[in-house]
Amino acid sequence: MSQPEAKPAAVPGATFTLTDDETGKSWKLPVLEGTVGPKTIDVRKLYDETGMFTFDPSYTSTASCKSRITYIDGDKGLLMHRGYKIEELAEQSTFLEVAYALLYGDLPNSTQYDEFVHNVTYHTMVHEQLHFFFRGFRRDAHPMAVMCGVVAALAAFYHDSLDIWDPEQREISAHRLIAKLPTLAAMSYKYSIGQPFMYPRNDLSFSENFLYMCFGVPAEPYKINPVLARAMDKIFILHADHEQNASTSTVRIAGSSQANPFACIAAGIASLWGPAHGGANQAVLEMLEQIGHKDNIPEFLRKVKEKQDNTRLMGFGHRVYKNHDPRAQVLKKECDAVLKELGVNDPHLELAMELERIALSDPYFIDRKLFPNVDFYSGIILKAMGFPTSMFTVLFAVARTVGWISQWKEMIEEPALKIGRPRQLYTGATERAYTPIDKRK
Ligand code: ACO
Repeated sequence: MSQPEAKPAAVPGATFTLTDDETGKSWKLPVLEGTVGPKTIDVRKLYDETGMFTFDPSYTSTASCKSRITYIDGDKGLLMHRGYKIEELAEQSTFLEVAYALLYGDLPNSTQYDEFVHNVTYHTMVHEQLHFFFRGFRRDAHPMAVMCGVVAALAAFYHDSLDIWDPEQREISAHRLIAKLPTLAAMSYKYSIGQPFMYPRNDLSFSENFLYMCFGVPAEPYKINPVLARAMDKIFILHADHEQNASTSTVRIAGSSQANPFACIAAGIASLWGPAHGGANQAVLEMLEQIGHKDNIPEFLRKVKEKQDNTRLMGFGHRVYKNHDPRAQVLKKECDAVLKELGVNDPHLELAMELERIALSDPYFIDRKLFPNVDFYSGIILKAMGFPTSMFTVLFAVARTVGWISQWKEMIEEPALKIGRPRQLYTGATERAYTPIDKRK
């Protein structure tokens, strides 16, 4: 059951030789390897020894940390959490089981699971005063803007779990964040539509409770649809973690300064918001609406290929996956199930499938290894379930909080935590004399 210790170990006898062509001087750099995946050149002493930095502005070739949580092989379309394939987790697990595995390293046995569910469930309410906090926002505020604010504000309410060096406080913060994010997400939705906040119901599962808080109203009973609750749970599982993506790296770098976990997760939410990351699911639906009809696909793809106005086929392409995104395949199947259950005949689904079919046979997308990513179909399901597009990224944040807090915890538990501090390749002005304002042209 238990997973192997992450090494990383120096590969015996393997070094990487770096030669300065100008001086002919060379250096041998150690080569590290993890349990699986590409070997890694250890450049930690490079600057001290050579006086040179490495240049990798978007981290396309940089391993920013070592981690035991999630592994992706982008060429094979493989995603594993703690060694378990995402397809199996999505089919057989619950979101809280996956959350446990991400946080603690292994799937729980039934006693551990019951205890974990209990711990998370009994943190689902938020401080009553947080309700008033919402009223400071305009009704038409984007719920992600609200989430950035209210999640950061949690640090102002839970002073008893801010000491990052105390394992028990870290644990409570993790449980609080996983439990309260759905409550805050549902509140941001209710606030935007002017309906009363629904207090969480601890007799429901994580996903059932979330649907209840979003779609229930005090005036009448809310009936859980098990197909939708299972779909919600799967969507959460599929978005739970994704190794060192932009928002996770943001959480890690914020945490490396020893900021409290609520502040770090709020930073992650801000990073997730962008359309190149978690905001893509909203952008996919907006794109489908803009295309409108199958007949308009060729014209739209012409704009994409000519890079007119930076138009992109949203929900396509991924920094790491160059074959397929395994999450997209699970979601496409789930999409059919949800639409069938709801009896929804969404023209967007047909349009998306046609767009996918045409793009996958077009040399532009084939040559650049662009495939549908997790966001391509998630918006269609979420819309069918009743969520407005502005909530899509919020739901992503609810799920990804588990990955963020697991990665944060792993980092804090490292024996020697060092602040993240990249360097730069300076291309600005060299030293020059100050000119008084009356002498400037
Ligand atoms: N549509 C059209 N062309 C694209 C797309 C796309 N969706 N994605 C990449 N390309 C093209 C680029 O224009 C570039 O072409 P070029 O070689 O002619 O210059 C080439 O493919 C490589 O693209 P990069 O931007 O360098 O790839 P990168 O790894 O930096 O970007 C990203 C990955 C941001 C996901 C990109 O594919 C994209 O913008 N996709 C659309 C947004 C999206 O769906 N984001 C969700 C990502 S998944 C997630 O966060 C959950």
